[in-house]
Amino acid sequence: MRRHLFLVAGIACGIAAAVACSSGAKEQLSEDGTDGGDDSSVILGPDNKPVPSGPAGSGLATGLPCDVQAVIENRCIACHDGKTAGAPKMLVYADLLQPSKADPAKSLAVLSVERMKSTTSPMPPPPAVGPDADEIATFEDWVKAGTPKNPMSCTEAPPTGDGGTPDSGTLPDAGPDAMAGCASGQTWKLGNQKSPLMHPGLACNACHSVMGGPNLSIAGTVYKALHDVNDCNGAAPPPTIIVTITDAKGKVVNATVNAAGNFDVPRQNGAQRLTAPYSAKLSDGVKTRAMVGKVTSGDCNSCHTTAGINGAPGRILVP
Ligand code: HEC
Ligand code: HEC
Ligand code: HEC
Repeated sequence: MRRHLFLVAGIACGIAAAVACSSGAKEQLSEDGTDGGDDSSVILGPDNKPVPSGPAGSGLATGLPCDVQAVIENRCIACHDGKTAGAPKMLVYADLLQPSKADPAKSLAVLSVERMKSTTSPMPPPPAVGPDADEIATFEDWVKAGTPKNPMSCTEAPPTGDGGTPDSGTLPDAGPDAMAGCASGQTWKLGNQKSPLMHPGLACNACHSVMGGPNLSIAGTVYKALHDVNDCNGAAPPPTIIVTITDAKGKVVNATVNAAGNFDVPRQNGAQRLTAPYSAKLSDGVKTRAMVGKVTSGDCNSCHTTAGINGAPGRILVP
């Protein structure tokens, strides 16, 4: 899925290469705030060097403000990925500036605020729980500011430095442990029965934003093997594993890995909310394992799939 989207972005960049993809090209916004639908212009990383851009969820730069990107990644892209009938694509900055179908005088960004607030046709639609006040405010503040493009990436360039290998499938380090399996030998068999132990390995927010379930800021699964399959239970205690998330403002939250290997941080409003991007670190009290890069998506399993996509090596492993 993401490979396809990434290739589309890549092709767009190829066509526009002479103009916008050459290094050093500067973003020119027209008066109405649009950039002519070109979503491939250069975005700078934290070190002020150009970074590759790509769709929300890929870990690449989208041109969206980081907190807007985070809301879209946790709550909207399960449907607005360009593959769901009727739901317009909302993966990069230029997408959000497209005129809406329902009211072409308004951009998708403007209509997003209205639909998130709507009581009659809310986004995300039921049975998903409605957006939090902070999520609406995040969009609304951006719209009120004139939907400016974020010229900076929310994250560093992927470790490969070449745009990464979204949806890579095969791993450079694939050894005997590259075999898909289930190290714990225990699987989740209760379908969508609500539980913190449910569906280990699957992308929690992607499903919750469609089928219901709590609005989680951060959620995922920790495993003992790199390529365990979906619904395979992960690393149960002992030892107790703590996932530590540090947000963009330095706020730190800890989540404890449960008997299914799952962990989650429920979404909070106001001063308690987490601000994207996040860094993540695991500890068993003795050893630690940390993600080098930062992410705006709190849906950890969306990259840490069985094979690993968007440059992730596979599952999140115990320290
Ligand atoms: C379960 C799938 C699903 C999720 C999740 C979802 N949407 Fe939608 N959305 C749709 C579908 C289908 C439509 C088209 C039908 C309609 O307008 O209701 C739509 C329409 C819209 C429209 C109007 C588009 C137009 O051209 O008129 C906006 C704006 C929108 N969604 C924003 C959002 C935002 C923002 C989120 C996340 C906070 C979100 N959606 C989450 C399925 C979804
Ligand atoms: C395929 C869909 C799907 C996936 C994947 C999924 N969930 Fe859920 N989850 C649901 C639904 C649906 C509910 C609400 C069910 C209800 O209210 O009866 C829910 C509810 C929950 C609840 C609320 C429990 C309670 O007692 O109120 C928690 C916690 C939860 N999920 C955690 C997770 C975590 C963590 C993951 C990822 C490791 C995950 N879920 C993956 C569908 C899913
Ligand atoms: C956008 C994709 C993406 C998302 C979402 C993501 N990761 Fe990662 N993760 C990566 C990539 C790429 C790497 C390898 C490079 C690195 O460490 O930054 C990685 C590496 C890691 C590692 C280190 C692996 C090792 O063996 O050293 C940990 C731990 C980790 N991630 C935890 C998490 C947690 C916890 C979350 C949820 C908050 C998360 N990741 C969400 C892409 C992602």
